Amino acid sequence: MRHNGRVSIEFSDRIRRIPSYPVADGYSLPDDVAMLASNESPDPPLRQVVEAASRALAGVNRYPDPSNATLKRALSHRYGVPASRIAVGNGSCDILLAAGEALLEPGAEVVYAWPSFSVYPHLAAASGARAITVALDDEDRHDLAAMAEEITVATRLVIVCNPNNPTSTALPFAAIAAFAARVPRHVALIVDEAYCEFSLLDDPDTTLDLLDRHPNLVLLRTFSKVYGLCGLRVGFALCGSEDFPRAVDQVRQPFFCNAAAQAAAVEALKHQDAVAERVERAIVARVEIDAGLSALGIEPAESQANFCWFDLPADSDEAEVVKGLAERGVLVRAGTALGRAGALRVTYGTPAQNVRFLDALGEVL
Ligand SMILES: Cc1ncc(COP(=O)(O)O)c(C=O)c1O
Repeated sequence: MRHNGRVSIEFSDRIRRIPSYPVADGYSLPDDVAMLASNESPDPPLRQVVEAASRALAGVNRYPDPSNATLKRALSHRYGVPASRIAVGNGSCDILLAAGEALLEPGAEVVYAWPSFSVYPHLAAASGARAITVALDDEDRHDLAAMAEEITVATRLVIVCNPNNPTSTALPFAAIAAFAARVPRHVALIVDEAYCEFSLLDDPDTTLDLLDRHPNLVLLRTFSKVYGLCGLRVGFALCGSEDFPRAVDQVRQPFFCNAAAQAAAVEALKHQDAVAERVERAIVARVEIDAGLSALGIEPAESQANFCWFDLPADSDEAEVVKGLAERGVLVRAGTALGRAGALRVTYGTPAQNVRFLDALGEVL
């Protein structure tokens, strides 16, 4: 291929198909910027978690345990799923991408809602499979009836994001259970529960009961959100059978989860009280931000996550609003990059950051 008069490297067809992940800005900005663009936890990691990761650093002349045995044992103990039915990943994205590689190929189909998590389109693009996207309902929630209609003989994978990123909405357990019962046994069903701890609809452990009924079910979870460890990259999948962990391990390099990450995750699991406190703070933030938005005449979607999603007033310009907020030290995500123009996704921050966001939005509008 000729490019600016010179011959450039010829890449595979997949490279032309794979969309670039819409990364957030702000990683090199000063500390006083309110980073509300990536659904991270505003709280620093616990001292004990940092200490556990530091201790692991002393042994990094050795490769990390490729079987993630200690972490799987700890996850098994916490979630009541046998270690052999647990997959660990370099973030839950790693497991998603591996699932795409293990399940999809040209001629196969993957069904998911849209707008939903920006990584899902990558799976079909990378494998040559067909992506079947199903519009959310009027309340920005998954339309599971419409999704069930899209399952065909070609379907290999169905993904339900609950709560959904970027719209923050969730469906109750009963709807997920009824949908799982409709998905044929040979089709993998991933319920991406990255934000499930923040949902007030059900106890986040309720879906675990479905695993014994549905060998094709995968509950995808992460240490990045409520556990506050996204900088270390650890995710996990709780599965209805041993087939899924085996397949995703087969397609990945052996040492995908580093030693500091494994140690930190094991320690973080011991501090469920801190998890509960983070959830409580997120829910306080939800109430305050909902009230602040409502005072500005904005009605956000019904959030069950650690972020909100709302349409801007019709007379405002999304890019201008995002720019105006950034000029006031508040970074948020524009809806265009996430699947809907004219919307914003804003992560709940510390109480001070939330006030700063609401004040800045009031000024910009
Ligand atoms: C719905 C959803 N799933 C998965 C992830 C991936 O998280 P990680 O790879 O950090 O575990 C995210 C991150 O934003 C997400 O929003």
